[in-house]
Amino acid sequence: MDKVKERVGRQAADYVEDGMVVGLGTGSTAYWFVDELGKRLEAGTLKDIVGVTTSRRTTHQANQLGIPLKDIDDIARVDVVVDGADECNMDFNGIKGGGGALLQEKIVAQYSNKVVWVVDESKMVKELGAFPLPVEIVPFGSWRLFHEFKKANLNPSFRKSGDDSLYVTDSGNYIIDLDLQLIHQPEAFSHHLKSIVGVVEHGLFMNYADTILVGHADGTIRTYEKNP
Ligand code: 5RP
Repeated sequence: MDKVKERVGRQAADYVEDGMVVGLGTGSTAYWFVDELGKRLEAGTLKDIVGVTTSRRTTHQANQLGIPLKDIDDIARVDVVVDGADECNMDFNGIKGGGGALLQEKIVAQYSNKVVWVVDESKMVKELGAFPLPVEIVPFGSWRLFHEFKKANLNPSFRKSGDDSLYVTDSGNYIIDLDLQLIHQPEAFSHHLKSIVGVVEHGLFMNYADTILVGHADGTIRTYEKNP
């Protein structure tokens, strides 16, 4: 699968043209997209791009590669953002946040003219929910909220770091993952989650993606356009 991720991530660099402001996603697939941008800049086949990152991790990678960066608040629009996804479907909806960067990823996507997702075929599903849905919440009152989710049978668990402490996002929040198996009405559930005090953001990305590149184990990459 790693080769598939690399191939699809690198191919997505074809969406980037000279002079663009580019959103740099987070995760093991977006990693290859960022790597490819670095290569093209170094080779001189790509010029004058500015990156807007979606996590500290990606900022670190971009800095190592010498990709010029700007803060999301210092640009008017992002021309194209390329990011991974944990699940997506042919309605161009998906679940993101497995890597814990959902808040910045959604903010950057919000201000992007074009959103491209790069995934391997295992991420394509009919209906969303088998992947636990990440919900980013403020630390204050987080255990109360956890118990509310439990009472509502949403099978919550706090995201943990390697040392078993609670995972803290780049914005200083916690993540609760909801093991739902199947989300029957993702649009309605998305609105419901956003209405809960203490919830900062969640990993349901409804109507964000414009293009999905799907890498297959046989070496092919299929492109799906929302508005062909
Ligand atoms: C990070 C994300 C990632 O895009 C998502 O988890 C997919 O990651 P990967 O490409 O490593 O499978 O949403 O918050």
